[in-house]
Amino acid sequence: MARTLPELRLKPGTDYYAVIGHPITHSLSPLIHQQFAEQTDQNLIYQAIESPLDTFPEMVEQFRQAGGRGLNVTVPFKQQAWEISYQRSEVAERAGAVNTLWFDDRDQIRGDNTDGCGLVRDILINYQQAITGKRLLILGAGGAVRGVLEPLLKENPDTCVIANRTLSRAEELVGLFSDLGDLSAVAYSDLAGSSFDMVINGTSASLQGTLPPLPENILTKEAVCYDMMYAKKPTAFVKWGLDGGAKLSVDGLGMLVEQAAESFFIWRGIRPETSSVISLLRT
Ligand code: ATR
Repeated sequence: MARTLPELRLKPGTDYYAVIGHPITHSLSPLIHQQFAEQTDQNLIYQAIESPLDTFPEMVEQFRQAGGRGLNVTVPFKQQAWEISYQRSEVAERAGAVNTLWFDDRDQIRGDNTDGCGLVRDILINYQQAITGKRLLILGAGGAVRGVLEPLLKENPDTCVIANRTLSRAEELVGLFSDLGDLSAVAYSDLAGSSFDMVINGTSASLQGTLPPLPENILTKEAVCYDMMYAKKPTAFVKWGLDGGAKLSVDGLGMLVEQAAESFFIWRGIRPETSSVISLLRT
């Protein structure tokens, strides 16, 4: 039986949005979207909803029926959000995951995935680093990496290598995305002797405060290291990049804000300014 939405009071005449996940208490999304709304003069309320693990579709439906306009979806529901989307963007379709939902004029659920766009915008615009023509190494082959591969490959890196503990998962991603570029799968132990201009960490190792088993000396002189995770202190991967001589080694806070901005744009048709929000979160 569907449960009632926790602590959700929807007033008529207000546009409601929310991030939905489990757990959700530490989400920065309400703060980010509140900043976007103030900055663009949009009258909306953005909340955080913790959905029970077994009733995600019901929660989405209750939110819609209560007048909700759109949802950001986070762990562990992105795949289920893909499944319940009546219509998906091309990027979301291939990513197999949806992080942005909204309801169209026929009340049907539409889905997109703004994670990859957020990552690429953070690298290209905020950090002013090119991806085109670079030798790219991606660490990890889970949902987070699958969600960003298409936008990354569309920037035309020279080559893109996916390294993963479980090689078969990396090979699976190569099978799914190899039409978009020069993509290959390797085990960490095969990386010794190679060199890369950009290393993106898409593993969840940073959550455990650890690093994938990376060999030394795989960074070129001008290398950029990017951790899709973010934390108050430098992550183990950000430290690894700095220690290894990367010219830039950063976490994914900017990606978080940029993917939120892209969702906001989908919902409201206005692109908020992100740098002030990233600075606010850094402090
Ligand atoms: P997510 O949705 O965050 O991507 P996931 O699908 O569980 O979560 O994937 C987690 C990724 O981090 C995987 O690539 C995983 O490697 P395996 O596929 O071999 O399990 C990787 N990972 C997690 N902890 C790791 C660690 N300590 N070292 C290296 N890779 C790790």
